Amino acid sequence: MKYQTPRGTLDFLPDKCAERVYIEERFRYTFTRWGYAEIRTPTFEYFDALKLGTGDELINSMFTFEDKGGRLLALRPENTNPVCRVVATKMQHYSKPIKLFYIGSQFRYEEPQSGRQREFFQAGVELLGINTPETDAEVIAILIEALQNIGLKDVRINLGHVGVFKSLVQEAGMNLSEAAELRKNIDKGNIEALEDELNKLSIQNSLKEAFRLLPELKGGIEVTDQLLELIDSPDVDAAIENLRAIAKVLDGYPYAGQITINLGIVRGIDYYTSSVFEAFVPEMGESALGGGGRYDNLIAEFGGQDVPATGYAVGIDRCHLALEKQNYEFPKPEIRILVLYLTQEERNIAIQTTINLRRVGFPVLLTFEEKGIVAGLKLADKQNVPFVIIIGEKEVKKSEATVRDMTKGSQESVSFKNLIEYFFSKMVK
Ligand code: HAM
Repeated sequence: MKYQTPRGTLDFLPDKCAERVYIEERFRYTFTRWGYAEIRTPTFEYFDALKLGTGDELINSMFTFEDKGGRLLALRPENTNPVCRVVATKMQHYSKPIKLFYIGSQFRYEEPQSGRQREFFQAGVELLGINTPETDAEVIAILIEALQNIGLKDVRINLGHVGVFKSLVQEAGMNLSEAAELRKNIDKGNIEALEDELNKLSIQNSLKEAFRLLPELKGGIEVTDQLLELIDSPDVDAAIENLRAIAKVLDGYPYAGQITINLGIVRGIDYYTSSVFEAFVPEMGESALGGGGRYDNLIAEFGGQDVPATGYAVGIDRCHLALEKQNYEFPKPEIRILVLYLTQEERNIAIQTTINLRRVGFPVLLTFEEKGIVAGLKLADKQNVPFVIIIGEKEVKKSEATVRDMTKGSQESVSFKNLIEYFFSKMVK
């Protein structure tokens, strides 16, 4: 017990860690190409700030603790709220749109299972300052592209609009906390529980029918017609019109075929106001790789001006799992060269040779003691190093290193001053 990590946390040993770093770098690559700048916020903050806009599901999952001065702190359960705090308090003067991304750990006290940890990692983007269908479409497009750029295949997006659900709640004369159970059951697709919940309510039958219909409205944008036929509400009309406008912009992206309208997507966090979406791959079933949507009121909650915004976060843990399930071959970080010196006399020249090669970018290992050729080659073999530079008395005298190609089992002499050129010619295909 003493030396185990707490439930829901993971150690990443070097192989897995290298895969993580690779995934993170690919996300960073995509986000920066789309003009997003990286931001980092503290891992823990004041509970009162972190809870703004999020709702019971997240608040109940927060790790909270007091500091020595009795102030209530919490580990961040997600990164949208902290980004909004920063924008409201420190970035109001930035010209809009503000395009930010983050990659970091988040914490939720949840029941751990495959793809669900208590410490988990997210990569996310937030696009702040503009509310147009084009901005909604951009974040969905960058979500698909980012997932494809880490190597995932068959990425699918379910796109809904929480404005529809919220308008129905208003039409029914409920407030959002009364509607929390409905939302939860729609979000989780618990149809029976949803029916039970609806049966308890004394609201118009057409509204009950509309709530019941939401999880079934999946497909092309025409599925929204059914709702418009059933409900006569300007707010529902406006939400559907907005969804249609976003879908239309998305038609201009090469990813349009990967998007399904799904009005059962209502999300578990409170701050969403309009479009909402989640990303899936078949190998992960119902477990979303990422999710997000538009939240136009959160920044004002921090005392700032109204700044409309949209964004998403993907779970890196789930992306990693999905790549494994799709048998993705991660590129292996490799040491390319081992420098082997035979006696202490050659140590300095071996150090210099190693440094010269590292300076131009080759990953190079240097042995830590004089090693015989047999032991040195065995080491190279064990570590899968394809080239060994052998430096002994003879090599120093002739100013030529012996280079062994481990794959071919051949070796040749290369003058010390030509080593860099030699390896470039070997390694640039
Ligand atoms: P979220 O849906 O709560 O949204 O989380 C986004 C993704 O984080 C999930 O789809 C999942 O892949 C991953 N995730 C969530 N909880 C866990 C967990 N316990 N273990 C492993 N992975 C997990 C948000 O966090 C919003 N901040 C997204 C957003 C950004 N909306 C607008 N901007």
